[in-house]
Amino acid sequence: MKTIAAFLLVLCHLAISHAWNCDKVSQLSDVQQIDAGLGQVVATDKHNYAYFLSGSSWDRLPSDNIKHVTVGHAGIWAVDTNNYIYKLVAGKWSRVNGKNGPFFFTLFVCLPCMLAQIDAGGNLFIAGANHVNKAYCLTTSDTLDFKGVGSVDWTQMPTSLKYYSCGPYGCWGVDTSSRVHLTQSVTPSNCDNSDWMQISGLALKMVEVGSDGSVFGVNTSGQVYQRTGITSSVPEGTTWTQVPMSATMKHVSYDLGHLWVVSTSGQVFQCTE
Ligand SMILES: *[C@@H]1O[C@H](CO)[C@@H](O)[C@H](O)[C@H]1NC(C)=O
Repeated sequence: MKTIAAFLLVLCHLAISHAWNCDKVSQLSDVQQIDAGLGQVVATDKHNYAYFLSGSSWDRLPSDNIKHVTVGHAGIWAVDTNNYIYKLVAGKWSRVNGKNGPFFFTLFVCLPCMLAQIDAGGNLFIAGANHVNKAYCLTTSDTLDFKGVGSVDWTQMPTSLKYYSCGPYGCWGVDTSSRVHLTQSVTPSNCDNSDWMQISGLALKMVEVGSDGSVFGVNTSGQVYQRTGITSSVPEGTTWTQVPMSATMKHVSYDLGHLWVVSTSGQVFQCTE
């Protein structure tokens, strides 16, 4: 009897430790997108304000036209409603121009100078997808060295992607048909763009890679999934595991054991295992 009780206790513990417990984050509403990295959390709302979590309050970052914000090894980066890219330098947004030049050429030649989505979670570099679904990568040196002046050299990726995110074991992307792809050949110093593999099983809206390599995504119906079994030798992982949620979701980000999820109605949930 004792053995059975102990066994049940272990089973129970296993079941509990694998479930995520989520709490509503009530201080923020109408959220568009959230990003967590290196212990920091940033988000944007539908009024295009960007916020930084400090204790339990959300402090506003400068500007009223930010549509996507990201935090990671590369610092705090954002994209505004005109798709221009910014890096936070000395507490202010500094526009990041591409090598191809000023505004006029930017429109016709330098699409990478403009992004619709951006990710600083990569190992010291920046990745993103623009409004015509081209994905771009910025190497470590350009990412870290950018101090608010001059321009940077973006590398375009071959696949059309609507969402692109990098971590220590590779870069994950979602194409315009919601198919999921992974490449391991992108490294912080080269932005190489060969060797993509398709990850079957799910149609995703977006995918985010955490600084530790964890991968979470939201499927096209708003259900949250984790890609489990990821290691440095198996960067593609083994299976998609659903993370049950009480609402339909549009965005997810993971950092240091905390899962941040945004519902389609703009409510934020913080989950821990
Ligand atoms: C998303 O995941 C849920 C839960 O597994 C599933 O019922 C739904 O069919 C999925 N949506 C799509 C478009 O595959």
